[in-house]
Amino acid sequence: GKRIMITAGPTYEKIDPVRFIGNYSSGKMGFALAEECARRGAEVTLIAGPVNVQCTMNNVQRVDVESCQQMYDAAVHAFPQMDAAILCAAVADFRPAEVADQKIKRVGKTMDIHLVPNPDIAAELGRMKREGQTLVGFALETNDEQQNAQHKLEKKNLDFIVLNSLRNEGTCFKSDENQISIISRKAKKDYDKKAKADVARDIIDELVKNLS
Ligand code: CTP
Repeated sequence: GKRIMITAGPTYEKIDPVRFIGNYSSGKMGFALAEECARRGAEVTLIAGPVNVQCTMNNVQRVDVESCQQMYDAAVHAFPQMDAAILCAAVADFRPAEVADQKIKRVGKTMDIHLVPNPDIAAELGRMKREGQTLVGFALETNDEQQNAQHKLEKKNLDFIVLNSLRNEGTCFKSDENQISIISRKAKKDYDKKAKADVARDIIDELVKNLS
């Protein structure tokens, strides 16, 4: 009966009608989380960037978006009705300052694209969070993992953060497996490498402990 919002997948930031800035996120981890929440009887709102994954569960309402701004608008709109949100999307931090309305032609020897910052969805939801709501983030790090994750936890007012290290081979982007640590204000717990569906179970077990 809990209402859970999940962001998943990458965002695409348009350069012109045929090109974008994106990343390798497949959406698999976010979709596994949505299915695990739905399996346990939650009403799930799944805000998905451009991905090739399906979700067949009845109690998952999927909202498809493309850019960070669209994901931000959908998340800010839905969050006040939620008991918890899990921010699993790999959001582009910057977008092109201008989107060309026609395909950019090859002219000159080099080309510059000027980028401007995107809104931080997690930080905004952290500001909006009220008593009784739980906010979970992800941190993808290549170095100083724990310190960076701890910093994000505090900066974005999260209740806990799921740390993905790119040092763990065969995990994370595109993979069907993941190896995580969960960092809260009080503790850090390391988990073994497992299928994303099993990782989702561990994360939702932790979320359940936080739900009132
Ligand atoms: N996030 C978000 N909106 C953004 C950027 C990040 O909601 N514009 C969320 C991610 O979904 C994740 C958390 O914030 O839950 C941390 O994302 P990450 O990309 O690791 O952090 P950044 O704040 O972008 O820091 P950096 O890229 O400098 O490591």
